[in-house]
Amino acid sequence: MEKTKNNRIWEAYWSGDDDHSWWKRPAPDVLEFISTQSPEERPNALDLGSGLGRHAIAFAQAGFSVNATDASESAISHLRKWAEDLSLEIPTRVCDVLGDSFPNGSFDIVLSYNVIYHGSRNLFAAAINHVHALLRKGGLFYFTCPTREDGKYGFGEEVALHTYLCEKSVTPGDIHYFADKMDLENFLSAFRQLSIEKDEGYWSNRGVQQLYSNWRVLAEKA
Ligand SMILES: C[S@@+](CC[C@H](N)C(=O)[O-])C[C@H]1O[C@@H](n2cnc3c(N)ncnc32)[C@H](O)[C@@H]1O
Repeated sequence: MEKTKNNRIWEAYWSGDDDHSWWKRPAPDVLEFISTQSPEERPNALDLGSGLGRHAIAFAQAGFSVNATDASESAISHLRKWAEDLSLEIPTRVCDVLGDSFPNGSFDIVLSYNVIYHGSRNLFAAAINHVHALLRKGGLFYFTCPTREDGKYGFGEEVALHTYLCEKSVTPGDIHYFADKMDLENFLSAFRQLSIEKDEGYWSNRGVQQLYSNWRVLAEKA
């Protein structure tokens, strides 16, 4: 797989000495989402851009059959070890968001938590189309991405419209695309849009309080 600059930055972060404990605890909204789903009705899940694997583990523990992909070898190797320690079977692939080679219609649920906006607007749109192909009819796509109110929007070099090279993120130098609601509605036109909500609050960005503002999106393949 050809590594982009973003991929290299994430690999350096996951293989480095930063404290990763936050990334090992599943996000409460993902746990809430999982609790509303039945592994009998929607058995096959994909954690797209799994990072260390906190949500893949949560899906597996809830009885789903889950695959996980990420471009970072270190992140995926952490997940493999974690799953093995818990005696969970979670097939993994080190690959780009668009390069997993799963057959169309492989999954009932795709989760992509804070992943697909890392890059250009075109990549963001292509990732949504890719997930549409990966889902079965009636399958669900849950993803998050920053809004244009997020504290990182407008800072760093603007490499394209609404697209910034962020020096003040946990992974300095990576590129983020910031979507607005109209964008999301356009990109999701092939889906039934179940909910597009904003999640906002404050977090400590290397010791500095900063507003976070993320879209939480749930869509169904019609
Ligand atoms: C913010 S982390 C989120 C990780 C995980 N979803 C979680 O919630 O813990 C973003 C992850 O997306 C992965 N990623 C970013 N762009 C990617 C791409 N184009 N292809 C594959 N993985 C990518 C990174 O390697 C990183 O592990």
